[in-house]
Amino acid sequence: MTVTASPDTLRRRAYDALAAARARTALLTDCVDDGELTAQHSPLMSPLVWDLAHISNQEEQWLLRAVGGRPALRPEMDPLYDAFEHPRATRPSLPLLPPREARAYAAEVRDRVLDVLGGSRFEGDPLVDAAFAFGMVAQHEQQHDETMLITHQLRRGPAALAAPEPPRPGADAAGIPAEVRIPGGPFTMGVSHDDEPWALDNERPGHVRFVPEFFLDTVPVTCGAYRHFIDDGGYRDPRWWAPEGWEQIRRHGIGAPLFWRREGGQWLRRRFGVVEPVPDDEPVLHVSWYEADAYARWAGRRLPTEAEWEKAARHDPASGRSRRYPWGDAEPSPDHANLGQRHLRPAPAGAYAAGASPLGVRQLIGDVWEWTASDFLPYPGFVAFPYREYSQVFFGPEHKVLRGGSFAVAPVACRGTFRNWDLPVRRQIFAGFRTARDAG
Ligand SMILES: [Fe+2]
Repeated sequence: MTVTASPDTLRRRAYDALAAARARTALLTDCVDDGELTAQHSPLMSPLVWDLAHISNQEEQWLLRAVGGRPALRPEMDPLYDAFEHPRATRPSLPLLPPREARAYAAEVRDRVLDVLGGSRFEGDPLVDAAFAFGMVAQHEQQHDETMLITHQLRRGPAALAAPEPPRPGADAAGIPAEVRIPGGPFTMGVSHDDEPWALDNERPGHVRFVPEFFLDTVPVTCGAYRHFIDDGGYRDPRWWAPEGWEQIRRHGIGAPLFWRREGGQWLRRRFGVVEPVPDDEPVLHVSWYEADAYARWAGRRLPTEAEWEKAARHDPASGRSRRYPWGDAEPSPDHANLGQRHLRPAPAGAYAAGASPLGVRQLIGDVWEWTASDFLPYPGFVAFPYREYSQVFFGPEHKVLRGGSFAVAPVACRGTFRNWDLPVRRQIFAGFRTARDAG
């Protein structure tokens, strides 16, 4: 997509993105009863019914009021659903809309938003240029759909969701090398509004970075590889750990990824209400940045920097250009990557040959978020848009950058430039990692 797309094309794209997000929201909230929607399944998460109304309150504020110039529908909702005013643990005690009212509010907002969308010319204001605000709101809803899937993972009780298995690796995967050499040199990191109109403020602007030659794992670190770290006493040896990470695993008695447990000499995990053996060939999930960092040190390697990750994912050595995805500029298809909650787990390492980068790195997009070594910082020339609370207030060394998206992320909120961030202690997110090393 470019900024020169016609109003009809932009309208269709915005409509499709909003509709896809709503279909996913409905699936995640219709599969449990009202009691489950209003319960808090973990102090780390909001009740699902909070997410439901928060999504619509943001949509009302940005698309009805800011873009559409319409009067406030439910202004009294604003403080209740302001994520900055109420930490997640306190949200169940708020006078939240009950499920039926939250759904009615969502439907009413969406109805009016489609009216605003129908009349928009997508010009004259940076907020609507190339339908940016519609794209931002669709991405926001999809991000909450990932958050709600995390709540489903933390929820106790029988499975409420089901999905087909992801594809197995093809015969070609048997011959792939353990690591790929990424030649040194400059590349364009980040992106301009003209090239990626729905990119968020922290992905901009595009700028040149020099990345020295390095080696990167061809696939994310698997559960099987991670088990060797556990079996080798990795969680009992402070040599591998950053001091804060060592402190965290000692304090909480952590000795394996979240949701794993050892039973009868076998590692089992709980996944969306089902207990199953840990699959050796699947990328490891639910490890903190500290665990990823410790594993890498144990393996004699390190986490890649954010710039290294993006160069591996976007730089095309043949043209010298940075592309949207490892496979090129085409929108992700089910052959390229495991995205959009189509499957409720990562695909085994080596799958998605069609999604490989020109140098052969696989599964950079989809499957698991990948922790990087980097702090979440602004790019040179960063300008907060459309509000400081989107990214700017999170910049700093306390947040680490994650890249590439997981199986739970929708394509609209996942691209080679997309930057996610979280605290290094976080384990419930759908995060894994791959490792790197310096050349020479
Ligand atoms: Fe939000």
